[in-house]
Amino acid sequence: MSSEVAEKVAPRIRYPSYKSLDEFIDVEWLKSLDGYVTDRIQRRVDQQQDIQFYTGPFTFAEKAPVKPGSKMVYLSQPKGEDDYYDLNNPDAWEAAAGATEFSELMDFVRTLPFKATARMLIMYDPEGRAVTAHRDHVSCNLCHEFIWFRTNLRKPFYMLNENTGEKRYVTSHSAWFDSVNQFHGGDATGELAISIRVDGLFSEDFKATIPVPEYNLASTPSFWACSAS
Ligand SMILES: [Fe+2]
Repeated sequence: MSSEVAEKVAPRIRYPSYKSLDEFIDVEWLKSLDGYVTDRIQRRVDQQQDIQFYTGPFTFAEKAPVKPGSKMVYLSQPKGEDDYYDLNNPDAWEAAAGATEFSELMDFVRTLPFKATARMLIMYDPEGRAVTAHRDHVSCNLCHEFIWFRTNLRKPFYMLNENTGEKRYVTSHSAWFDSVNQFHGGDATGELAISIRVDGLFSEDFKATIPVPEYNLASTPSFWACSAS
């Protein structure tokens, strides 16, 4: 299902766009975890136990696969039922076994500019298949505070303007992006691809640096990205 989102956004916003957060995180520390994370993910590939990543129903192409092949390792897990709209509610999540297995990654996560974290997961695909372009949800006034990041730059991850077909590839180690008014997806590489996403509540200090649009809160990351240039 391709769903329509054509809500007004601030005139300065151009899609596709994303906000690199590399200036706010310790990129050298993150890069240093590449071997550690890759080794542990490789073990899980061999065990074949992880659940499949689901893009959700809001895909760009009507017949594109919603379970394109990526798998997930939960660093935190829902305390009760897994409700998508709880992904940013710290009270709804508790540490998962993955947090112990990836304890050195968790040490890094604790340095990110959150006052509290909620859903935390590693997405990976041992075969590096394409990730179908999709929106995460269609609520223009709901802005999830999250950091998407990776230990290497091998996964071609992009934002897509569905009207022009223009893609913008993420060139940084980390990003916050508008997951509603544009699409995002990944190209196939044929090799192991790994990324990590942490949702929660940004720290007050960090939030103070973020410009907020008057309407369409979901566009905040793009509003910020387009303010800087
Ligand atoms: Fe997504």
